[in-house]
Order: sequence, then structure tokens, then C-alpha cells
Amino acid sequence: MKPTNHLPRRAALCAAGAMLAMSFIAAADDFQGSTHKVPYDEEIIDYSNKKADGPIEKLQAKIDRGEAKLKYDEKFGWLPALLDALDVPKSSQMLVFSKTSLQRAFITPQNPRSLFYNDDVYLGFIPGAPVMEVSAVDPKLGGVFYTFAQEESEKPRFIRANDCTSCHGAAKTLGVPGHFVRSIATDETGEMDSQSEISYINHRSPLADRWAGWFVTGQSGSQAHRGNLIGAKEFARFEKEPGFRGNLTDLGRFFDEEKYFGRGSDLVALMVLEHQGQMHNYIARLNFETQIMMKTYGHIRYLRTQVAAFLRYLLLTEEQPLTAPVSGNPQFVKDFEAHGPRDAQGRSLRDLDLQTRLFKHPCSYLIYSDAFDALPAIMRDHLLQRLHDILTGKDTSEDFAAMRAEDRKNILEILVATKPSLPDYWRNPAPVSAAGAPSGN
Ligand code: HEC
Repeated sequence: MKPTNHLPRRAALCAAGAMLAMSFIAAADDFQGSTHKVPYDEEIIDYSNKKADGPIEKLQAKIDRGEAKLKYDEKFGWLPALLDALDVPKSSQMLVFSKTSLQRAFITPQNPRSLFYNDDVYLGFIPGAPVMEVSAVDPKLGGVFYTFAQEESEKPRFIRANDCTSCHGAAKTLGVPGHFVRSIATDETGEMDSQSEISYINHRSPLADRWAGWFVTGQSGSQAHRGNLIGAKEFARFEKEPGFRGNLTDLGRFFDEEKYFGRGSDLVALMVLEHQGQMHNYIARLNFETQIMMKTYGHIRYLRTQVAAFLRYLLLTEEQPLTAPVSGNPQFVKDFEAHGPRDAQGRSLRDLDLQTRLFKHPCSYLIYSDAFDALPAIMRDHLLQRLHDILTGKDTSEDFAAMRAEDRKNILEILVATKPSLPDYWRNPAPVSAAGAPSGN
């Protein structure tokens, strides 16, 4: 099977300033294909020197003041306490056995890495490894990375680890510090076969391209995926027999599941992660590009196509449709849906569909995130104006033509009822004057 979503690589063109802004115009016409690194360690963004102010700093402050007392567990170290303190559901457990981590030596198909997440924190735990790997979403800096030593202590500390951006801040994360999922076949030891890599796994990827190097529990019916395949022989068998190793309910045949805090490697959690991680990258990238454009030109007009790409991702217009229902651990669905604000009819952007698509109302719930609200005002206002035009049918561009009228209406109503910071014109449907180019803040 051929990967269908390889995207062209574009070279990083130059260092900073006007030259750089020119390169955005020339090369990054649509940043779904952009892989060049945004100069986030230069003066405008200054990623590595800036203090982060996200969920991890908040927890660390509580630990330091003695307000949060974490309990060290004999078997899982700090994992249960961190999940609890950061409100990350145990049901989000996913297991990856390709050696894709700084702690690669500990990862094998018999000892996979477990990952857990909520809207703004990701935690990695490998049985027997010296540190936990943690990433969090900072509203202004994008993904921020930490290690957390697995040894008992009165006041454990998160150590910020900027070197993680060698992978988490390059081509595969839209060129900003962020998150990603790869699909990469391995041999029997978890060693990667880089020829087989499919990058940019997100809601646009066919299921048939996903999850090489991962364990997957859950049902996807007749839809084949590459999860649970270890070594060339199994991949060869899968080519002839696409259902091979699909639709598993447990992983007992592969390793001792007791070594893990949760159960399984949830298919639905994986699908939501793939939407979410890339959405975080988009928000960070648009934030950084806006700041650079404003410093260089004083306007954001050159970001028109990036804005369109962002909105297409936000509204899942290019989502890979499901051809059969999917399901996983019902507890994950419960935990995920419980966090949403709901309108008077009980509707939420977190409602999962899982029949023909991921969400019932295809507009990313990360529109409620601090990172979305922390976009520079000129960009946030512009996005909300465009979004309003799309949802009310005023925008007739090709990009959004396929959105169903019913979806537009539902999303508009849900947002009006649940996002208090929307500008007034969202609530007072007076005729809005045609706002073409974005104006100042
Ligand atoms: C060699 C490349 C590489 C390095 C270096 C690396 N990671 Fe990752 N990391 C990955 C890949 C790849 C994934 C996605 C899982 C997969 O597809 O295997 C990932 C996933 C994660 C996740 C889950 C959320 C996500 O982004 O998908 C966390 C948390 C994480 N890494 C933390 C860290 C931390 C902390 C460091 C530094 C101490 C680090 N990583 C260094 C490759 C790397």
C-alpha cells in the first residue's frame, strides 16, 4: 500500500527579518505543506529563553508551596499522581513500540511506551525508564517539553528540556515546537524502517496509513490499519490479508499488560490525539507567523492562504471519512465528552460521532483553548470574522463549499451559546458590513 499523504519538503530559506517574511510569501502559501522551521529561537519569539506559563508551571508552583503533595507509587512511580494532579484521563492510554524517543533503549514491542493526554498536557511513561517525558501546551510558546525523574522525592521537579525540539520542533511538527504522530514500520525489536515512514498523521490521513509502530485496541470494522504489526513478515502478511491484526480487544499476546497503568491502546484516543496534536501546531504556527508579519510589515495580509489552511483544519473539511463505524474504550469517550461546555440542547463540540467521521459537529474544540484565545488580537479577530462568514454562508469559497448547511448552523449555535468571548456580531445577527482585509487591533 502506498502512503497517500507525503508532502513536499520545502527548504528553510533564510534567517530572519524581511528576507524571511518574503520566504513565507513565496514558500508557505499553504502551511499544510510547510515544513520549514519558523525561526522561533530568534528575537521575536525567543522560545527557549521565555518562561513558560502553562499547566506544568502551575503544578510546579503548587508542589513548591506544598499545596500539591504527589504520592510516589512503587510500581508506576509518579505516573498515577501526575495523571491525577493534571486531570489527564487514565482511559487515554495509547502504546507505541517504535523507538521514537530520547529513551529509545527502553522501548520494544515487549515494553512499549505508554502515552496519556488531555487538551493541554501529554505524558509519556515507559516501564523501567529513568524519566517520564512530558509536554504541555503553553498559550504563547506552543509545545513545551520536560522530563520528570522517576525517583522518590519530597519536592519532585519538572526539568524543561528544550533539546526535545530536535524532533518536536522541526519539519514534522509544522516547524514549531509541538506534537506529532508517526506511522512507521519496525523490525521485531522496535527498530524503525525509515523507508516506510508516513508522517503528518492527522485527521486527514487514511486509516490504512495509520498506526504502524503502535498497538491499537478497538474496532474499525472492515477498515484496515497498520497497528499491531511487528516485523517485515507481519507487514507482508498484512499486504495480502488487510484485516490481519485489526479489531483487537486486548494485547495480552504481545506483552504483560499488568506493567501498564491503563488497559489497551485506544483507537478512539489515537484518532482524537491525531486531530489535536496537529491543531496545536497550527495554532502555534499562526501565532508565530502573525507576530513576525506584524513586526516586519505591520499587517497580516500576506497570511491569507495560511488562514484558509488553518480554517480548513479547524473545520475538518479535509477529514478522511470513515467507511465503517469505529469504537474503542467507552470510558475514553465518556471522559473526553465530559469536559465540553454544552448548549441548552446538550450539544457540544466534543461530541464524538465515530460513525462516518470523528466529531458530530466538525469544528475543533480547541477553539476554546487558551492558546486560541492567546493568538494576537488582529489574527484572532480576523479568524472569527472569517469563521462567522463561513458558518453563516456568506463565505462562498471553494474551500468550505462541501460543509453541510446543517453542520454550519449547529456549530454557529453551539459557539454562540458556549463561547462567551465572541464578538458581539455573533450574537446580534445585524447585517455586517463586508470586512475584506483584516484591520488593526
Ligand atoms: C528522536 C525524536 C524524538 C525526540 C528527541 C523526542 N521525541 Fe517525543 N515523540 C517523538 C515521536 C515520533 C512521538 C510521537 C509518537 C510516535 O509516533 O512514535 C513523540 C511523542 C511524544 C509525546 C506524546 C505527545 C506527542 O507529541 O505526540 C510526548 C509527551 C513526548 N514525545 C515527549 C518528549 C520529550 C519530553 C522529549 C525530550 C526529553 C522528547 N519527546 C524527545 C519523537 C521524539
